Parts: sequence; structure tokens; C-alpha cells
Amino acid sequence: MRKKIVAGNWKMNKTLDEALALTSEVVNMVNDEVTRDVQVILCPPALYLTALNKYVENSPRVALGAQNCHQKASGAFTGEIAAPMLQSIGIQYVLVGHSERRQYFGETNAQLAEKVDLSLAHGLTPIFCCGESLDQRQNEDFIGFVKNQLTESLFHLTAEDFSKIVIAYEPIWAIGTGLTASSAQAQDMHAALRGHIADQYGAEVAEGTSILYGGSVSAASAEELFACPDVDGGLVGGASLKSREFTNIIKAR
Ligand code: G3P
Repeated sequence: MRKKIVAGNWKMNKTLDEALALTSEVVNMVNDEVTRDVQVILCPPALYLTALNKYVENSPRVALGAQNCHQKASGAFTGEIAAPMLQSIGIQYVLVGHSERRQYFGETNAQLAEKVDLSLAHGLTPIFCCGESLDQRQNEDFIGFVKNQLTESLFHLTAEDFSKIVIAYEPIWAIGTGLTASSAQAQDMHAALRGHIADQYGAEVAEGTSILYGGSVSAASAEELFACPDVDGGLVGGASLKSREFTNIIKAR
């Protein structure tokens, strides 16, 4: 049975006080209301991770993740954060290859392969993001494009290491637009990615890989999306900034 996960990517939002309040609200609501077995992951701005650690330490169902890390372990990279630093403060997860990182910071599949390697080497679970643009969906083999993102950034891993990866499929055209992929669109892509993983690593690894959907997930859309057989949870942006809405999404999982 693969892990069910709902992760919140806060992106560049919230002051410290707001971050503390949101975290404590989510932790309380998860403890009080969520009965199903689901791993909740909060990915706040990295600046707040240390302060938020103590809010989640007694709630194993809520963990923290970083939104990014550098592909080198240390060095002269002003402003960057490295995987060993995240490990040193007890962080468990890290987003790798979010489309905003690819688009605005020019991250390539090859760089992301390095980030994945370093994250794994330092005990972090990478949540590897992939997805196509609207133009690609309309004019290209978009499923092949997304499969290739996995091939180039992940398929150098051993089966043992690949088994530690979480995949998040986020169609770029659905991010922050209010345009959620239909459950059929999400299921088709997730099944294709699982098949691609099976071709490389075999059915057992593929069946054990959690594949999350991201892109305008809301409490209203979550239930139908999460009911798809190959959708194992969500990576939520805007709706994760509101504790009530986010908890309702978690409860839909
Ligand atoms: O990583 C989450 C994300 O990109 C989706 O954002 O605001 O469309 O839920 P949003």
C-alpha cells in the first residue's frame, strides 16, 4: 500500500507570525479531525523551518519540507541552501524541480538529477515535480515530455534509491490558474508515469511510488482527484495558505 500524502507548498508567502499561526492551526486540525492514514507535509519558506520544527515535533503525521535545495553540498553560492543544512535541522522532505524553479531560475533536468542525488545522500525525501505547459499539451507529445523529465532526472538511480522518491505531477497550466486538471486528465498522466516507472524499475517499485497531483487543488476538487486510482494525494499551493481549506483537502484524501 503506497503512502498517501498531502503537501502544502507555501511558496514565497507569510510572515513569521503568520507562518507560526498557520502551522499550529493545521497541526491542531489534523490531530483533531483527520482519521485517515495520510502524511501531511508543510513546505514553508526555508527561513521559517527551524522555528516551525517545534510545532510539528510531536505530531508525526505532519512533517516539514523545504521548497528547494542547491545541487552542491556547500560552497560559494550566495543565498542558497544545501541539503546537509536541511538535514542538520531535521527536515525530512524537499521539493525538487518545481516548475517555477525550472521557469524562473532555469533549472534543468541534469541539475535536478544532482539535487536528487544530494538530497538522498543527506537523508531527505525528494518530492520530484514534473509537468507540461499548455503549449506542450496542445502541440506536442506532452506525456512523452513529462516521462522524459523523469528519465533525465531520476532514472540513473538504483531501484532502492528510486523507491525513496515521491513524484508530484503539476501541469503548469493548472498552477495558480483555478484551472484544475480533470480527474481523467490527472489519472491518464499518473497511470502513464507509473507505467514508465514500471518499465524502468519493475511493477513492484512502480506500485509503491506515491504520485501526487498539483495544480489549483481545492477542497471542492480534491475528493474527485484523490479518488483516482493512481493519484496518491496532492501538492497544494494557494489553498495550503488557509488552514481550514487545507485541512478539508487533507480530509478528502
Ligand atoms: O506546488 C504547488 C503548486 O504549484 C500548485 O499551486 O496554487 O495552483 O495550488 P496552486
